Amino acid sequence: MKTKTWDLRHQLGTKQGQKALEEISTIYHAGGLVALPTETVYGLGANAQDNEAVRKIYEAKGRPSDNPLIVHIHDQSQLDAFTAPRSKEVKLLMDTFWPGPISFILPLEPGYLCERVSGGLQSIAVRMPSHPIGRAILEYTDLPIAAPSANISGRPSPTTFAHVFRDLNERVEGIVNGDQSEEGLESTVLDCTQYPFRIARPGAITADMIENILPGSVDLTAHLDTDKPIAPGMKYKHYSPETPVAMLTELNHEISSDQDWQHTLFAVPATLKQYIPKNAIYRELSSDSYDLKAANHNLYQILHELDTDDSIHQGYIYRYKTTDDSIAFLNRLEKATGNQQIGADQL
Ligand code: TXA
Ligand code: MG
Repeated sequence: MKTKTWDLRHQLGTKQGQKALEEISTIYHAGGLVALPTETVYGLGANAQDNEAVRKIYEAKGRPSDNPLIVHIHDQSQLDAFTAPRSKEVKLLMDTFWPGPISFILPLEPGYLCERVSGGLQSIAVRMPSHPIGRAILEYTDLPIAAPSANISGRPSPTTFAHVFRDLNERVEGIVNGDQSEEGLESTVLDCTQYPFRIARPGAITADMIENILPGSVDLTAHLDTDKPIAPGMKYKHYSPETPVAMLTELNHEISSDQDWQHTLFAVPATLKQYIPKNAIYRELSSDSYDLKAANHNLYQILHELDTDDSIHQGYIYRYKTTDDSIAFLNRLEKATGNQQIGADQL
């Protein structure tokens, strides 16, 4: 299959941009797949009412078909067709955090969406992205769009057009370039089928942020997945690069440059760069050890680089302290490294 690409980075509102939106919408309405940018990660989109289109998503990704998809919308009124009326708690959180990096799992009313999209469950995850290009596509197309992350299953989620292209060129009808995803980690998934709600996947919208809006609404005992002691091992390797990568702890003194580090990448906050061996490859993960927004933004780009740059044979990524802000980052880093931790004093 020839994959068509559009670069919409500077084209919204132009004649060419309009033509691209028409072409993309036509593909969705005809049951095709188009990867689109969102502020979290790129999504692989298809019409959520079309069972065959959704089947093609699973096929293109090589994803098990019992893993349900998130449905993307541009207007809350679209939900009326396939979910029960929202509670005032859910409405308040949607009004506060949408458009943005949080998905809500709601009870599903059958009949409107195709069966495959919910993987046979009685519930459905929904999200309204804020990315201007992603939103323009959703608005113009005016369909509920099912979109998992636009990567081959088991590889890191894509945060740039190049990442998507590498995984999905010739496997999908189209890919839209909308620049590097601002957030960089997949959305928070909040299970609202019971109260208090539960965080099913941590993301940029944290438990504290939700509790600040609606005290008592999050079951805080249920979401701390990352704080359980996790044994290292393959079964936690989900977002995993092929190049060996571990978390770096105890980085409070200089690592000796005596070894040959030239094929080793260290991704750490700029304030700790002084401790990295001079002959190693350095990547700035954030400005300082509290800037988790930057760390989230950069993580997947670094995981992708570990695999695409043949000169890198080993990676160490800084393990930030566990805080409400770092839970999503640490959750992904634990999966990418199989929870391998190494202290700088052991290097
Ligand atoms: O940021 C994101 O959420 C991205 C962008 C493209 O929007 N999408 C994304 O989709 O990460 P995906 O399919 O890679 O992850 C969806 C997650 C999966 O872990 C899935 O198991 C869970 O949400 N999920 C979806 N529907 C669910 C449901 N009804 N009940 C429980 N979990 C659900
Ligand atoms: Mg994914």
